[in-house]
Amino acid sequence: MSKCRSCGEAAVIDLPRHNANFCSEHFLQLCRRQLSKAISDFEMFMTDDRILVAVSGGKDSLALWDMLIDAGFQADGLYIGLGIGDYSTESGAITRRFAQERGLKLLEVDIRNEHGFDIPTAAGVTGRSPCSACGLSKRHIFDDVAQREGYDVLATGHNLDDEAAVLFGNTLRWDVEYLRRQAPVLQAGNGFGKKVKPLVRLTEREMAAWCVVRGIDYVVEECPMAVGNKHLLYKDALNVLDSTSPGTKASFYLGFLDRMRPLLEHSASITAPGSCPRCGAAAATSDEACAFCRLVETTSGHEQIPVRMVLNKKARKLFDAQWGSQHGD
Ligand code: AMP
Ligand code: FES
Ligand code: ZN
Ligand code: ZN
Repeated sequence: MSKCRSCGEAAVIDLPRHNANFCSEHFLQLCRRQLSKAISDFEMFMTDDRILVAVSGGKDSLALWDMLIDAGFQADGLYIGLGIGDYSTESGAITRRFAQERGLKLLEVDIRNEHGFDIPTAAGVTGRSPCSACGLSKRHIFDDVAQREGYDVLATGHNLDDEAAVLFGNTLRWDVEYLRRQAPVLQAGNGFGKKVKPLVRLTEREMAAWCVVRGIDYVVEECPMAVGNKHLLYKDALNVLDSTSPGTKASFYLGFLDRMRPLLEHSASITAPGSCPRCGAAAATSDEACAFCRLVETTSGHEQIPVRMVLNKKARKLFDAQWGSQHGD
């Protein structure tokens, strides 16, 4: 039985990147330290700021919400019903239960009720990848709700694995503009609210362990529409490297934050000189509707398209195995 590096008691987790094992109490302490370092290094928020946490029902965002409350911050949740079949139904139920059990405030937006479409329908109608329609909708709704409800900052559960995978993709393409914008903080300005990623110093595995130790129930399945996307491929590639040289993934991403910091800080806000004539959201120009309003318009009145119909073969197989095939094709 391995022992905790800090106290010598029985360990519950081994963390190869720290070359050590930890008991549950010292593991939680390590996570709290990493969270607090990310928040203070990047001046994400202060104790009296009102934080809106975007919660998906997955391990990262539920762990983030739990950690922020645990650290004494004022954090409410925002859940968006994306209409991705049973995956969304279960994510919503788990998120609601998490909030109820802890007496936390959860705001909800159901895109079909409020905007007349869902993600599978948007993907089917536009021919775009589901993840791009989904990302566009989430970003719009995050900003809209956070600003309308007067929150100081919006926090998402992106973790070190997510950010390292995005960094890997941006580097492979040498996409300098995206590299510059890949800061864990985007300052408010030009009609956009402030956005932060407090979990950038913690890995996916650490967040799953946080949930287990803290008794948090989360949706284990990944979004069925994301199967086969590049982001997951980059994640796998980094995990292969990390399994032979533990710490590679963390030093790749954390090294980027350290060395590129002046460049990141300098450009860490989005420029949007215009505003959408329909919804008022910040946009590239004021002449035409923003990308979200155009998506609402394109999908308007369209018959609902079931999830299975817009999945590729591999995703469909997984979807059937996880959720059954009763949703038609
Ligand atoms: P993803 O884009 O699915 O990797 O999720 C990244 C982050 O976006 C999550 O950690 C959450 O903070 C947020 N998020 C994802 N899906 C939802 C959702 N349905 N409702 C609210 N926030 C979400
Ligand atoms: Fe957005 Fe899956 S959660 S496409
Ligand atoms: Zn210990
Ligand atoms: Zn608009």
